Amino acid sequence: MTCTDEDIDGLVTPTKIHRRVYTDAAIFDLEMQRIWGKAWIFIGHESQVPDPGDYTTLTIGRAPIVMVRDKQHEIHVLHNRCGHKGAKLVDKPCGKVGGFRCCYHGWTYRLDGKLLGVPHMAGYEDTGFDKDDPQYSMQKLARYESHRGFVFASMDPSAPDLRTWLGGAGDVLDNLCDRSPEGEVEVAGGVLRYEHECNWKMFLENLNDTMHPMIVHRSVVDAANDYIKTLPEDSPHRDEAEIIPPFGASYENFEATGITGFRYGHHYDGGKSSIHSNYSVDPDYEAVMLEAYGAERTREILTFNTHNTLYYPSLTIKSAIQNIRIVRPIAVDRCVVETWSFRLKGAPDSMLQRTILYSRLINSNGSMVGPDDLTAYFRMQQGLESRASEWVEMHRNYGSDEDHGDRWTNKGTSDLDMRSQYGAWRHYMIGEAV
Ligand code: FES
Ligand SMILES: [Fe+2]
Repeated sequence: MTCTDEDIDGLVTPTKIHRRVYTDAAIFDLEMQRIWGKAWIFIGHESQVPDPGDYTTLTIGRAPIVMVRDKQHEIHVLHNRCGHKGAKLVDKPCGKVGGFRCCYHGWTYRLDGKLLGVPHMAGYEDTGFDKDDPQYSMQKLARYESHRGFVFASMDPSAPDLRTWLGGAGDVLDNLCDRSPEGEVEVAGGVLRYEHECNWKMFLENLNDTMHPMIVHRSVVDAANDYIKTLPEDSPHRDEAEIIPPFGASYENFEATGITGFRYGHHYDGGKSSIHSNYSVDPDYEAVMLEAYGAERTREILTFNTHNTLYYPSLTIKSAIQNIRIVRPIAVDRCVVETWSFRLKGAPDSMLQRTILYSRLINSNGSMVGPDDLTAYFRMQQGLESRASEWVEMHRNYGSDEDHGDRWTNKGTSDLDMRSQYGAWRHYMIGEAV
């Protein structure tokens, strides 16, 4: 099925989304060009490539990309494509190299992508081929920038600068880093990665969907509460147990946490409080924070309690937990979700242990919570093949979003998150003002 801008315009209204947005491969193709080919996309964290020659690979939409640190310690985000006949240059997820060498005809490249060597150059004499012409090098992405170690890139030369694009939602990324007494975080351990048989947007729409946890996660919350009752007061497993029950919080609780939306489709739930607010604070951690920041600033940092924050379309973070999730679309009905855990530099090891525990208990493929959500997405993907109705609805609290200039807010149970995302979707897809 083809898709004109006029068609797209009619697919998303302020209160309804057409089913084609989740099921039509032609729309997925356009999203890969117009959203993933234009927005700032999260590439990785600087700590993944600490030394010269370290690289990590990924895809943006369908395009293969490599992030690499060069000999001057500068990070580059390059198209993972040979300048000769286009072979993908680097095939492994990550590693260390002195330079890049194509597996096909052996062209070699510097770590910043510049073409270095072409075998048997004699054949190119008097042909008009110029080895120094930049078109034969590995191409840099149009834009790449780092914010506190988090590297983003855009294929759009006219994209706004990264800080402008992050807007007020950038406060949450700052808060994640400020929770380190040194103000810095680093990736710890490996990645948890699993495929989701659903459209990539369903994962994003679920992040601040606070109408689902008390339904979808009910059974695991009940099981966790039963288990907690069996634990002695001083049990070392209390930390584990306290992570799960907040997922069963009431509608009133979630309503009170609020949702805040920003330009370019970003949003978070919580702020003053979230489902993470009541986790106990390790006294050793509190002590190093007080020493680093003083009482007032420590209180400010630790009481900015968001749950999920989305940087549309690729990155979601939990600042209070120090883990992030990344979505990578594969096809209209398939995506991969990755979870990465972070160490707060200068904090006791117990903080990292809690982060990894959370990532495994809540976000991994073997977790007790993530697969509940996955089942719901998969059922939506199946259900939307039905022609019983053409529409998915998002009316909750429509018409009552409060405008604060650079952000808008509403109750935590509202569909403000969906309205924010689809405002950005229309901006990227049909050029509507954002
Ligand atoms: S395609 Fe890479 S050297 Fe020929
Ligand atoms: Fe969930």
